[in-house]
Amino acid sequence: MESLVRRIGVLTSGGDAPGMNAAIRAVVRTCNHLGIECIGIRRGFNGLINGDDMLLNYSDVSGATRQGGTMLYSARSKEFMTEEGMNKALNTCKLLGLDGIVGIGGDGTFRGLHDLAAHGIAVVGIPGTIDNDIACSSYTIGYDTACNTAVECIDKLQDTMQSHERCSVVEVMGHRAGHLALYVGLACGATAVLIPEKPVNFEEDVIEPIRRARLRGRTHYMVIVAEGVGSSYEVADKIKEATALDTRVTVLGHIQRGGAPSARDRVTATHMGYSAVMLLAQGKTDRVVCLHDDQYVDYDINEALGMKKGIDEDKYTVMRTMIGQHNKI
Ligand code: F6P
Repeated sequence: MESLVRRIGVLTSGGDAPGMNAAIRAVVRTCNHLGIECIGIRRGFNGLINGDDMLLNYSDVSGATRQGGTMLYSARSKEFMTEEGMNKALNTCKLLGLDGIVGIGGDGTFRGLHDLAAHGIAVVGIPGTIDNDIACSSYTIGYDTACNTAVECIDKLQDTMQSHERCSVVEVMGHRAGHLALYVGLACGATAVLIPEKPVNFEEDVIEPIRRARLRGRTHYMVIVAEGVGSSYEVADKIKEATALDTRVTVLGHIQRGGAPSARDRVTATHMGYSAVMLLAQGKTDRVVCLHDDQYVDYDINEALGMKKGIDEDKYTVMRTMIGQHNKI
């Protein structure tokens, strides 16, 4: 296939996610296959503003599939949102002779790419965030690894909670969404799961499940709180007050963003990186690569940004069934 672009840039922006390096590798290798030169832009859109770039050849990305973090660094650029920042970025694109840019990140990254497209730069986005909160795609790079990291940590916590007969309140990331919390809660067999998409009735959703579990003979409890719900310390205080249980809070935090990507993240990232370059090579722009019904497809970025993603209602029902909310004793 003859490529319609000769030189492209690749950047990672927003919160890093395991698998971003695998996506960068796939972009570089696909470029190599098509005879396109690939330039790595460091530190997200700040790299475009400051001309912070590096040539990426085939062997520069060897072994990148299994590395966490992002070799290109990441940032949330406020300057890029200003007219001056945009002009500097456009100037860098011109100086570097970039025909297109692949941006890996979340909604903020896609908005930045869309703005570049409006100024005539060909762009394609790849969803990379542990939050899985990109509406156009059923899956975002990093989600699986983050879920597994959280589950591994919570399993360890369960051991010590069991020994001391305590209640553990674990806050997981997810920004304003509860996908990560719900998935992790299901995987850990949590006593209660609080997510921002569902209004919380504290007595019914937290205290009653703990009491029911206690009546069945359970001696330790695991409550998962999505960060978007609010303070996990307040949740713990309320539990302590209502049940007198020795309740401890663990905020998993950024540990969820680190580590070697899972096989799923490596493969998804590789496929998405490949698809992104193929789209640019075909002369397409202002697109985002998505996973939909297990197929890799692409959407117009603006259209994608207007989409809404709700919580997986089936998973929510299953979770509530597991904690006995549909069949109270
Ligand atoms: O979007 C990924 C994410 O880890 C969210 O889950 C979290 O709310 C946010 O980034 C944290 O951002 P920062 O690393 O800037 O504190």
